[in-house]
Amino acid sequence: MKILIEIKRQEDVDSKPYTQLIEQEIERDNLTVASLLRTMNAHLELKDVEGRKVSKISWECSCLQKKCGACAMLINGKPKLACDAFVRDYLKKGRISLAPLSKFPVIKDLIVDRSILYNNLKDMKAYLDRELVFKDKDTDTAYEASRCLMCGCCLEVCPNFFAGGDFYGTASFVSVSRLISAAKKGEASELKKEYEEHIYKGCGKSLACKDICPAGIDMDRLLSKSNEVSVWKFFRQ
Ligand code: SF4
Ligand code: SF4
Ligand code: FES
Repeated sequence: MKILIEIKRQEDVDSKPYTQLIEQEIERDNLTVASLLRTMNAHLELKDVEGRKVSKISWECSCLQKKCGACAMLINGKPKLACDAFVRDYLKKGRISLAPLSKFPVIKDLIVDRSILYNNLKDMKAYLDRELVFKDKDTDTAYEASRCLMCGCCLEVCPNFFAGGDFYGTASFVSVSRLISAAKKGEASELKKEYEEHIYKGCGKSLACKDICPAGIDMDRLLSKSNEVSVWKFFRQ
């Protein structure tokens, strides 16, 4: 069985992107997109549909088990983990389109520079200055938040996030909500102010990010909990 793969490619950060069509024979339909990319790159001579030799496709992966977030990309226009997207789900259309996440600078082909995610956390000073101790009622929230892969899929669908903007988006609020939920009364007031400035004020609460998270994080619950702890109670103090 053959499948057509349409890939958005880019040589480096300064060059223009272009689209390439490659046809690939697959022996089984339970391949993931990650396995498909590995199979394509294993060809001694990878060729496009017009028979021209093309370079190997640059993309990132590490765990191949939905645990690291490195393989996040746009698959038929939706942000997904390549190691968690199955070719069989795209066979009806007969074609898979692959593109880099659009909210980050492209390093090469499907690899993007997600350092803004970490820079935004550093800017909010969202790091530990003591060991976290959770109350029983907060452990669920903290555990949920700790599952974030920093993949950036939620930022892709957020209409209000762009790299370099004042709104830091879902990925930042998930990490911050973990620290905030462990703060004792009167603690973390600076972090709560940062939360209000860089998350609460910019978030339209549309919840476009609600069902996109590959880790299954419940954005709805985390967002309302963090707003409550950081902003609503903060106003009441
Ligand atoms: S919240 Fe989910 S979608 Fe967003 S960065 Fe974390 S794991 Fe990815
Ligand atoms: S609720 Fe809307 S604006 Fe807020 S982080 Fe999610 S997608 Fe972005
Ligand atoms: S390679 Fe780690 S999540 Fe896909």
